[in-house]
Amino acid sequence: MAETSGTSGASIELEHLTKRYPGAAEPAVDSVSMEIKAGETVIFVGPSGCGKSTTLKMINRLIEPTGGRIRINGEDVTDIDPVRLRRKVGYAIQSAGLFPHMTVAQNIALVPRMIGWGKGRIGDRVEELLDLVGLDPGEFHGRYPRQLSGGQQQRVGVARALAADPPVLLMDEPFGAVDPITRDHLQDELIRLQRELHKTIVFVTHDFDEAIKLGDRIAVLRERSHIAQFDTPEAILTNPADDFVSGFVGAGAALKRLSLTRVRDVEITGCPTVTFDDPLQEIFNKLRSSGTHEVLLLDGRGRPYKWLRRGDMMRAKGSLARAGTPVSDTVTRDATLRDALEAVLTDNAGRVAVTGRHGEYTGVVDMETLMNSVHELLEADRLEAMEHQHELEEIRADRTHAEQEGAVGGGRTA
Ligand SMILES: Nc1ncnc2c1ncn2[C@@H]1O[C@H](COP(=O)(O)OP(=O)(O)OP(=O)(O)O)[C@@H](O)[C@H]1O
Ligand SMILES: [Mg+2]
Repeated sequence: MAETSGTSGASIELEHLTKRYPGAAEPAVDSVSMEIKAGETVIFVGPSGCGKSTTLKMINRLIEPTGGRIRINGEDVTDIDPVRLRRKVGYAIQSAGLFPHMTVAQNIALVPRMIGWGKGRIGDRVEELLDLVGLDPGEFHGRYPRQLSGGQQQRVGVARALAADPPVLLMDEPFGAVDPITRDHLQDELIRLQRELHKTIVFVTHDFDEAIKLGDRIAVLRERSHIAQFDTPEAILTNPADDFVSGFVGAGAALKRLSLTRVRDVEITGCPTVTFDDPLQEIFNKLRSSGTHEVLLLDGRGRPYKWLRRGDMMRAKGSLARAGTPVSDTVTRDATLRDALEAVLTDNAGRVAVTGRHGEYTGVVDMETLMNSVHELLEADRLEAMEHQHELEEIRADRTHAEQEGAVGGGRTA
């Protein structure tokens, strides 16, 4: 890989940072204070209009604060020349925000030119950055933004933000406009980049899953950028500060749990199975006697082949070859509950067959089991969080008690 030993992150301190837009009754951002450590990735999440973008843009003074201070690596940058500030702070936005009449190379060169780099140095840097974000310099250098896919534009946007090697990178919903698969890839690339570059990243998103995936810490913001909670993803998931936060993470917490748990951890049930060798009458009997409304037809090697219902058998006039619905998806015991849920939903019938090492049928997981397990897991998380809270309170109470005793004791001897 090309030279990546660039400038690593700087700390950011916001101190009572405030923005009051002219004519507005209320400030858009009201006295936000937070400390972001050097090299940390912090995610801002919060409802639309709560002031995320305004807060972010004040950090590089694309928007001028009306109150409070900003410190980067201890230096007060609230009043320095904004051009000087752009060297410290790179900025990438939703749908890349590339200039359409400039080539990829010209777009990336923007800030280095602004701060007076020489031509040769800029040229080298552009090549290096294209390579870094996974675009072939020879191929993409001279293209215009409209000749790129959404994901490629986004990569160029990130390259542009990194151009002058700033210690701080601000990203405002940078992956908001691309499809979910590209988004996943871009997220993975950002994680890889960050492992190499150790920038300080402040990243705005609506998507709590994205926040969990990318963030060292997440700031959940409410109206006027008031901080509802600022903590690690794990802490927010297991111990949301209040209803506002749990409302925000609810679905995210469940999904994260789904990805952390395996099919082998939940109850695998069975369903009646039949094979091509079974007499039709026996299949009818099984359908009639079993509590379920369907049986699973296995192929010659014991693998799930078709789901058969009573109506299917009637319609196909008893011919197994024509009857039933082919099994479209199965899961193994190592699949995540998220995979299982996906399969259950895709199949649209509320269950999925579980298979062993050779694809052979070993059981069934149904929607109800999945839902119950997730519910139990979340409940367990909540209990654990409560116990933790309880322990903390006890420690605190003990300490207060000890202090009081100490004070009283001291009084007596005096
Ligand atoms: N230039 C402006 N002039 C006046 N008011 C503004 C301006 N820009 C933003 N606002 C207001 O400030 C508040 C915060 O806006 P901001 O763009 O920071 O929200 P946000 O959290 O980024 O929202 P979203 O998630 O929709 O991007 C909103 O009420 C918005 O209407
Ligand atoms: Mg915004």
